[in-house]
Amino acid sequence: MIRLCDIDEIPDGEGLRCTGPTPVAVFRTGDEVFVLDDACSHQGASLSDGYLEECWVECPLHEAFFSLRTGEPSGPPAKRPVRTYTVLVADGVVWADLEPASNPDPVPASQEWGVA
Ligand code: FES
Repeated sequence: MIRLCDIDEIPDGEGLRCTGPTPVAVFRTGDEVFVLDDACSHQGASLSDGYLEECWVECPLHEAFFSLRTGEPSGPPAKRPVRTYTVLVADGVVWADLEPASNPDPVPASQEWGVA
């Protein structure tokens, strides 16, 4: 697990970009936290700048919706899913599992991550 941010850094109902070798978008809706690839699978717009609607994020560039739970798009223009990651929130800290089983491009655990 890699430490991404404190939960208080994520505005409720909005996204937070966490930088690193594979930037990820962190979302909080109520008590749930989700981590997805930050880059939209269509043309790479930052999903952390997108708009949340329940458990979906709308890409800010061409308005494709992605499930926060599965990363699947709801329809065009995006055709491919974005990766989602297993999340753990403990003592107010958000951790994500970026091990090979959930990510074909694993990030070394020693890699520093930060909030953008
Ligand atoms: S870049 Fe996201 S839908 Fe086009």
